Amino acid sequence: MRPFDLQRLESCMNTGWVGKSCRFWEQLDSTNLEAQRSAESGAPHGAVVIAEMQTAGRGRRGRSWQSPAGSNLYFSLLLRPEAAPGSVSAVTLVMALAVAEAIREICGAAAQIKWPNDVVIEGKKVCGILTEMRTERGYIRDVVIGVGINVGQTEFAPELASTASSLLLACGRETLREELLASVLRSFEMHYERFMETLDMSGLEEEYNALLVNRGREVRVLDPQGEFTGISTGINQRGELLVERQDGRLETVYAGEVSVRGMYGYV
Ligand code: BTN
Repeated sequence: MRPFDLQRLESCMNTGWVGKSCRFWEQLDSTNLEAQRSAESGAPHGAVVIAEMQTAGRGRRGRSWQSPAGSNLYFSLLLRPEAAPGSVSAVTLVMALAVAEAIREICGAAAQIKWPNDVVIEGKKVCGILTEMRTERGYIRDVVIGVGINVGQTEFAPELASTASSLLLACGRETLREELLASVLRSFEMHYERFMETLDMSGLEEEYNALLVNRGREVRVLDPQGEFTGISTGINQRGELLVERQDGRLETVYAGEVSVRGMYGYV
């Protein structure tokens, strides 16, 4: 795979404010941590941090994110929204939508979203998103959305082998990481502006649900209060997953504590 080239990225970018400041590192502990550090030294709303590899890549639920060099895309976007902390948690769904759309545009692959924010191709995960918010006296200090996309990776650790894939494995050809990133940021900017008008998913619900792999499928909801199954009908305006139980009761599943699986596997 070609080395990541910041100049090539700049030549592909056509955003208004997202990614106006882009910093590239050969190696970082985690792009999320670097974005938080850069926020403390005054980095602007929309700043992007990219790394060729991470030594302490972070995943959701305290897991790590394997981040080998030379084949994937690891980046974080810093946001400084002027909004109440509770109102922007669904922004992570906005990024999932942007990534799925960008993969479709750049690779032509039928990327879909596994609620709330994994991106899958043919049922296998190609992208994970970790959103971290810091607050201060009831205000948002910053929001960092970290994105890891498996672009050219062809081998995965045994525990991931059955559920993970990459753009190369799914499409059979190389993807330029700079083009892909520019497309993600363009799509994110457009959708984020729409999201901020209402501070919910009402303007994006239709686009999101159209790409939702869980929609119309039987899902297993791993709720710490008790597991249940049902048919998922899509998200509501708050970004919660609607699941219809066999007895007809409609459950709204909130992303925080809960995982959703397919009946026989990951999706
Ligand atoms: C998941 O568990 O699915 C989320 C994985 C998020 C990984 C990305 S890679 C770039 C950014 N920096 C990190 O440390 N994590 C996120």
